[in-house]
Amino acid sequence: MNDKQRVAEHAAEKIQNGMLVGLGTGSTANYFIEALARRHLHESLQIQVVASSVVSTIKAKQLGLPLRSMEHVAELDVYVDGADEVAPDLTLLKGRGADLVREKLLAKASAAFWVLIDNSKTVEHIGQNFPIPIEVMPFAWQLVQNSLSAMGGQGQLRKNGDGLFVTSYGSLVLDTAFDKQIDGKRLNAELNDIPGIVEHGIFAQLATAVFCSHEGVLAEKTV
Ligand code: A5P
Repeated sequence: MNDKQRVAEHAAEKIQNGMLVGLGTGSTANYFIEALARRHLHESLQIQVVASSVVSTIKAKQLGLPLRSMEHVAELDVYVDGADEVAPDLTLLKGRGADLVREKLLAKASAAFWVLIDNSKTVEHIGQNFPIPIEVMPFAWQLVQNSLSAMGGQGQLRKNGDGLFVTSYGSLVLDTAFDKQIDGKRLNAELNDIPGIVEHGIFAQLATAVFCSHEGVLAEKTV
């Protein structure tokens, strides 16, 4: 069992009867979906799930988890997902995939947000290992790129082969590196103020617990 599987199993064990559970997207979230489905099948765990992407929807459906659509849900008990970076104050970087709009909506609507990582995801500051993914309305990309440039950010349109990468909601992505060390919470507020940005990958003040596995040893950090 690898570290991602270990945190996923741990989180699945904590799910209780009657919960409405948000499912993240990515390899760690996949392990969680599988572990949850096993408990649903073998322990008759009574739960319902809401998925953050088409991929997770398909996986949950194939494994027999009772799905609800986001449109019909006002609040969830817990949202469980991976992350690309986790800073010491539990600010996250997410969105290397194409589904961060739904991911952030579910994280915000949940009473608890559990983040599942292996040790490679812990950083001193957001943006340490990856640029910040910023989803933009296609016609606004140059205006947003200019606004980011004024803040010291170099936004590059994400490519997909010879074309441009398009998210599940038809947005383009400006992967943006900053020339200075980033204060994640401050950048979150600044990006929220730029017109034309649909969503971005900084998840500030949303995670309630981070489960981290490093070479088999599990640690939990809460806010
Ligand atoms: C999806 O958009 C991402 O935010 C993922 O949650 C993140 O990239 C973590 O992915 P892995 O679990 O595959 O490492």
